[in-house]
Order: sequence, then structure tokens, then C-alpha cells
Amino acid sequence: MTSLALLLWIVGAIVLQLTVFLGIAFWRHWQDYRALRVGAGPAVPTLLPAEGAAWQGWRSFRIERKEVEDVDGCVCSFYLQPVDGEPLPPFRPGQFLTLHLEPPAGEALVRCYSLSDSPAADHYRISVKRVPATDVTAATPAGRASSFLHDRIGVGSLLQVRAPAGHFCLDGSDDPLVLLAGGIGITPLLSMLAWSLERQPGREVWLFYGVRNGREVVRRAQLEALAEKHPNFHLHLCFSAPLPQEMPGRDYRHRGRIELPLLRLELPLAPAHFYLCGPTAMLESLVPALEDWGVPDERIHFEAFGPASVRRKAPQPPGESAAGLVVSFVRSGKEVRWQPEAGSLLAFAEANGVRIDSGCRAGGCGTCQTKIVAGEVAYRQAPDFDPQPGSCLPCVCTPKTHLSLEA
Ligand SMILES: Cc1cc2nc3c(=O)[nH]c(=O)nc-3n(C[C@H](O)[C@H](O)[C@H](O)COP(=O)(O)OP(=O)(O)OC[C@H]3O[C@@H](n4cnc5c(N)ncnc54)[C@H](O)[C@@H]3O)c2cc1C
Ligand code: FES
Repeated sequence: MTSLALLLWIVGAIVLQLTVFLGIAFWRHWQDYRALRVGAGPAVPTLLPAEGAAWQGWRSFRIERKEVEDVDGCVCSFYLQPVDGEPLPPFRPGQFLTLHLEPPAGEALVRCYSLSDSPAADHYRISVKRVPATDVTAATPAGRASSFLHDRIGVGSLLQVRAPAGHFCLDGSDDPLVLLAGGIGITPLLSMLAWSLERQPGREVWLFYGVRNGREVVRRAQLEALAEKHPNFHLHLCFSAPLPQEMPGRDYRHRGRIELPLLRLELPLAPAHFYLCGPTAMLESLVPALEDWGVPDERIHFEAFGPASVRRKAPQPPGESAAGLVVSFVRSGKEVRWQPEAGSLLAFAEANGVRIDSGCRAGGCGTCQTKIVAGEVAYRQAPDFDPQPGSCLPCVCTPKTHLSLEA
């Protein structure tokens, strides 16, 4: 055999080996990708606490404990005990409470706050971030409810509270759990994390927690203790603007925001459930990115703490761009042509001088519930509060047809 033939043999053998190796690698990757897309069947929520016999209307609670949760004191936890001493119905990790607050000056406020711990029989915990004024000219004043809770509510104070509610709840499956939190969006995920580590010891859990720097991390000591104790819990602190003295690897894991390339790098290709809670911008970028990655719709769960407009790839209900539809506000005697730029029917009503009471403005509290006299509305996402038949939640819906509202 000539040396040229030998060389060709060697090159041919190397090419063959490489082809076989790449073929196997591609096959494995494809199998993982299929697993990610297809998932492992529907979640079976058998382990989750059953929905307890919740109370109707408002119930009195006393603050039993108040704790600061971050370095700057911007987030406070409140431990609430029922005044009647009766046991509390269990809730599903991820649900929230609705509070009725009466600040000394100003009108009563209704606000929702996620339960931030796993269910206990004798108390609930919520964790509230103070919303500061961002403009000295008072164009964006300090948040009314959060300031009132931080400044005026302490141990012994009484609060009126509605039973736990909400559809943003942990699934009961054993599939890997990926929690993606931005800022104060950590609260419902803390509850999911605590419950899952207590009750699903075999479940792999990732928490990617995005904040600007270490001063904003809520319950850092507890998170690190949990990561130390549970090898199946993987804590990833992501700082977008670390302080000069903060070191990667010691004070935080990743520099920057939570983005898909980071998740692709850190997560195994396995059919996981993703739970996201954070600012609208975070949800608007991450939800479509997860969909593009191949995560099935039913495995992406998210919640925003205010009106958010996350666009999903799934077909949207018709009507959201239904310019030209006429909305009649029967009690106010106004008839106005719908403008989609208004966003929600609530904002549209307010812009046209029609008053509708509101609280959370996110479909959670039911304060804006309004009777539909005629016509139909569309929701981009099922609201957390189930309106009575024949009524709608104007804060999160738009007209689908010409519409008459009792407002
Ligand atoms: C399901 C759900 C769960 C939630 N869970 C939590 C939680 O766990 N923890 C938490 O901290 N929050 C949570 N929230 C958010 C919470 O309900 C409140 O929205 C938040 O505390 C702010 O309320 P506030 O009364 O302090 O602010 P608001 O007084 O309602 O003000 C909100 C914003 O509007 C601005 N603003 C007010 N008036 C004006 C004006 N006239 N002109 C211009 N800007 C104005 C303020 O500057 C502020 O930035 C949750 C919300 C929902 C819907
Ligand atoms: S204001 Fe809370 S549901 Fe509309």
C-alpha cells in the first residue's frame, strides 16, 4: 500500500469515527429535546394541599410578628394569625391573600400579597416591598398600601383579609422545578420552594433569583441554608448591578439578568415546570424565549404583580384589537367607541370619566367586578378571581363585541 493510500485510509477512519460520534450526540440531543417538548404527561396534583374550606368575605387577622427581610429594610414580612383562633384552610403554594386596608387619611385600599411561606395551620406570612416615591415632584408618589403596611402596621395591628386565592400554583408532579424570580416576584416562589423541599424531597429544584445586588436579596440566609441542606436545590443568584465589593462565586453566581442562554447553560434538558414571577419586562422576554426553546405552553406558569401583557404564541382570544366597537356605560349614561390603546376596559372607563372601584388592577381581588348588561368581553389570560356569571373584571378584559356595562 502506498503512503498516499495509507493516509487516505487514516483520514477515512477518522471521518467515519467523527460521523458516528456526531450521529450519536445528535441522536441523544434530539431525544432530550423531544422529552422537553413532549413532557412527562400531565401533572398529578395529588400531593398538593387540598383546597380547604375557605371563608367568605373578610376575616380579621392580628399581626403576630413583623420582620425585615433585606439589607435596606425595603421588604418586610408580616405573620398573620386569625383573631377567631380557628384553624386556617390550607392554600396552594403560589396563592395570595387580599387585604382591605384603611389608612388614617385617604380612602380604603384593596391589595393582593402572595403567601411567602409553605402552608401552616395557625398563621400566614406575606412579604411586602415598600414602593418608594420615584419623583420629588410627587408625579409618582410612594405606594399607598405598601407604605401604610411598612409604617403603620406592626405587632398587634388588625387586618381584614380574604381567603387565599389564585391560579398561579405549584403543580404536584415530581418533574424538575425551575423557579425564575425577579425582585419582589420572589414571594410566591419562596412558598413553592419551601413546600417542595419539605414535601417532595426527590424533586430537583432550581431557583434563579434576579436582583440588582446583594442589598436587595430577600431571606438570603434562609435560601443559602436551604441550598446547603438540600443537594437537590440549586440556588443561582443573578446580580444585574453588583456592588464594587461583591465578588462572583462568593456573593453571587451570575452577573446580568436571567436570560435564556443562562438557563440553557445551567439546566439539564429534561421536562421541567417553569414558574416565573417578576417585572413585566422580565416576563415579556422570558416567556416567549422559553416557548421558542421548546417548553410546552402548559409547563410555563407566570404571574405579574400588576397589569402585564405577556404575549403567548398560543392563539389569542379575538376582540383585543376590535377598534370600532361601542362600549356603553349604562349608569353613567356614556357611550364611547373602544380604543385598544386604552389597554383594559378599566383604564378605558377611567379615561372617559367613568368611575369603577379597583384594587389590584391585575384580576386578583374582584374589586372591579362589573355586571355585563349586553355583549361579551375577552381575557388574554384567565383571571385569578372568578367573576360571577354575567359579570366581568374590567381591569383585565377588553370588549369582544359591542358592550353595555353596569357602570
Ligand atoms: C397577585 C398579586 C400578588 C402580589 N404579591 C405581592 C407581594 O408578595 N409582595 C409585594 O410587595 N407586592 C405584591 N403585589 C403588589 C401589591 O399588590 C401592590 O400592588 C404593591 O404593594 C403596590 O401597592 P401600593 O398601594 O403600595 O402602590 P400604589 O399606591 O397602588 O402605587 C403603585 C405605583 O403607581 C404609582 N402611582 C400611584 N399614584 C400615581 C399617580 N397619581 N400618578 C402616577 N403614578 C402613580 C406609584 O408611584 C407606584 O409606583 C402583588 C400583586 C398581585 C396582583
Ligand atoms: S381590580 Fe382587582 S380584579 Fe380588577
